[in-house]
Amino acid sequence: MKNNTLHNLNLVPFVSVDDMMKIVLEIGVENVLTGIAEYLDADFRRWESFDKTPRVASHSEAGVIELMPTSDGDVYGFKYVNGHPDNMKTGRQTVTAFGVLSEVETGYPVLLTEMTILTALRTAATSAMVAKYLAPKGARSMALIGNGAQSEFQALAFKSILGITDLRLYDIDPASTKKFMHNMADQGFAITACTTEQQAVEGADIITTATADKQYATILTDNMIGAGVHINAIGGDCPGKTELHRDILLRSDIFVEYTPQTRIEGEIQQMDADHPVTELWQVMTGQAPGRTDDRQITLFDGVGFAIEDFSALRYLRDQLERTGHFEDLDMIADPDDPRDLYGMVMRAKANQQE
Ligand SMILES: NC(=O)c1ccc[n+]([C@@H]2O[C@H](COP(=O)([O-])OP(=O)(O)OC[C@H]3O[C@@H](n4cnc5c(N)ncnc54)[C@H](O)[C@@H]3O)[C@@H](O)[C@H]2O)c1
Repeated sequence: MKNNTLHNLNLVPFVSVDDMMKIVLEIGVENVLTGIAEYLDADFRRWESFDKTPRVASHSEAGVIELMPTSDGDVYGFKYVNGHPDNMKTGRQTVTAFGVLSEVETGYPVLLTEMTILTALRTAATSAMVAKYLAPKGARSMALIGNGAQSEFQALAFKSILGITDLRLYDIDPASTKKFMHNMADQGFAITACTTEQQAVEGADIITTATADKQYATILTDNMIGAGVHINAIGGDCPGKTELHRDILLRSDIFVEYTPQTRIEGEIQQMDADHPVTELWQVMTGQAPGRTDDRQITLFDGVGFAIEDFSALRYLRDQLERTGHFEDLDMIADPDDPRDLYGMVMRAKANQQE
């Protein structure tokens, strides 16, 4: 345990990538996923108490950089996240992130953390939590199309939260599938590596698409989708970046996080602006139906919303005392007299010269 304190408002706990890995390993990946899912569930149920806005996105040829803020009135949180599908070619991640939690009363930050790993965990926990409400009862098998950075987290979340035991993998790059099979070899899954998307979806109760391409892609076509499946589509999350053929959307009941953002970024950007969708919090609070029959196709058009990051940040903050894996960051200027910021800087100069 490092030397640190959680109770000095001028020192901000900072969770580095190294700390995050230690926390995840100490608590266990599946325990973290189920823990975050509980925080997500609680926050989705009090959806109406949050500030909500579509994320602020800065697009370029290469990708996107986004800010994702929200507040429940007591705590404020935001995430900085990018999406650059070509990064992999130069040995970089497609998605990286960091985030902050602050106390609304003072505006002082109370947590600064890496969120690349935390985003993969929260995205997977969200997908599995949503599937609990929408997937066919007794679902055991899942097709996983796109076997990159998110994929193992998705698989483990669906195992621990839903009881998925059988995985059918497909990726255009066989090296991704190979990496997945190596990482998940001793996790108790029955894994089938497939050579086409069509083969991967055969017999699957749930279909997860987690591919990365900065263009309209058609990972799934209508003829591949049988009655009764739940589709967890998380890779289409930017204007001009989708994964599903429009005809699938016409046959599905579509569930979203926050409609104004999903209309811009999700699969439904292909549809008319008034195409019917249901927000998940309404299903979770009993205000709207989720799955109503065995033959219904349910689609989670997941783009990732700020409240999910807020839940993940809250979860992480609650693990700090117990694990001690963080360091104190000297991030808030703290002059003896709050008005004398300049004097503090000049005294530092005098101290340097001594
Ligand atoms: N909805 C959310 O909350 C959320 C959160 C994080 C990431 N994402 C998105 O999920 C996607 C996956 O993220 P990642 O970090 O795993 O990316 P990644 O680059 O690590 O992996 C993507 C994988 O998809 C494969 N792929 C690309 N095109 C394909 C195709 N046509 N068919 C099959 N496989 C294909 C690639 O070979 C790669 O292995 C990205 O689009 C990312 O933006 C969404």
